[in-house]
Amino acid sequence: MIATMHVPFVDLRAQHAPISGELDRAVREVIARADFILGAAVERFEAEYAAFIGTRHAIGVATGLSAIELALGAFGVGAGDEVITAANTFIATVQAITAVGARPVLVDMDPSSYTIDPDALAAAINSRTRAIVPVHLYGQPVDLDAVLAVARRHGLLVIEDAAQAHGARYKGRRAGSFGHAAAFSFYPSKNLGAFGDGGMITTDDDRAAEQLRLLRNYGQRVKYHHAIAGTNSRLDALQAAVLRVKLPHLDGWNAARRRHADAYAARLARRVRTPTAPAGIEHVYHLYVIETGQRDAVQHRLRAREIDTGIHYPVPAHLQEACAWLGYKAGDFPATEAASARILSLPMYAELTEAQIDYVAEAING
Ligand SMILES: Cc1ncc(COP(=O)(O)O)c(C=O)c1O
Repeated sequence: MIATMHVPFVDLRAQHAPISGELDRAVREVIARADFILGAAVERFEAEYAAFIGTRHAIGVATGLSAIELALGAFGVGAGDEVITAANTFIATVQAITAVGARPVLVDMDPSSYTIDPDALAAAINSRTRAIVPVHLYGQPVDLDAVLAVARRHGLLVIEDAAQAHGARYKGRRAGSFGHAAAFSFYPSKNLGAFGDGGMITTDDDRAAEQLRLLRNYGQRVKYHHAIAGTNSRLDALQAAVLRVKLPHLDGWNAARRRHADAYAARLARRVRTPTAPAGIEHVYHLYVIETGQRDAVQHRLRAREIDTGIHYPVPAHLQEACAWLGYKAGDFPATEAASARILSLPMYAELTEAQIDYVAEAING
């Protein structure tokens, strides 16, 4: 039995240590310019992020939730519309749909990928359906060929929820460049995280991009001249400055996450179910989610050895109290419900060491 070692779930201090000089400089530059709202750092980061994802536009907003909500709104989704998404997602996806006044329609996941089941999606479409919000959950792009084919067949909008999938690729293209628009979150623990809240919308649509720039800023094109009813949802300049420092490191960090995923799988696959990405998909392992019938016991054992874990998510969206009004019940989405009792997210971040991975694997294999 080796000595106990604390393994945090994420370790932002380890990420920041080697780039702390650059981060300090970037923040000081914003303070020196005093352009805290929108301004140079936001403009530059938007251009860099659009180039990184491969879209014509990127519009910085306050949060990932707001990115989904504003993207839906910019494409005219609202009251009377139905928007389909997966029951296996963080609640923000669902709450963004309700925020624009549309009705969320939830569907089950494909148990092999944990992402939306394209057949279940197709079966949920009716005359009120306006849009699909596929979620690239845990960092794995959804089956985009299948989802986009369904969308095209029915003339539906696709707003990707890429909040967990910065840098992931599907058949060589970045997640976030496939739909009419895509939403990203820069919540600190995301693969690309700010020092607070932040979000981004990517799109190739010039009209929507223009609309989104208005919507996030009180509907104003010129100060104190308000063209449309908007809101205040701007990406903060200090956050943009931090994100500009981090963006060039993202592909390297994601590659390290993939190496750690392989290392976990090599040590664990005989005892628990480990995630696998099908050919053509570059998973970025925002979360490394294993499955076991003894989930609670395993989590307990890891906690006793000071290994932090998470469950994403313990209660599927359709069984959340906040969604009771939608009328779903236990048993509606069997794959999602079965997974929620079995899944466990292990520590995952680029700076994870081989010793930590060995220690976690040893604790699981018991
Ligand atoms: C899948 C998903 N969608 C949306 C969000 C919302 O992002 P934010 O917390 O920045 O509002 C998150 C993360 O928090 C998420 O994981």
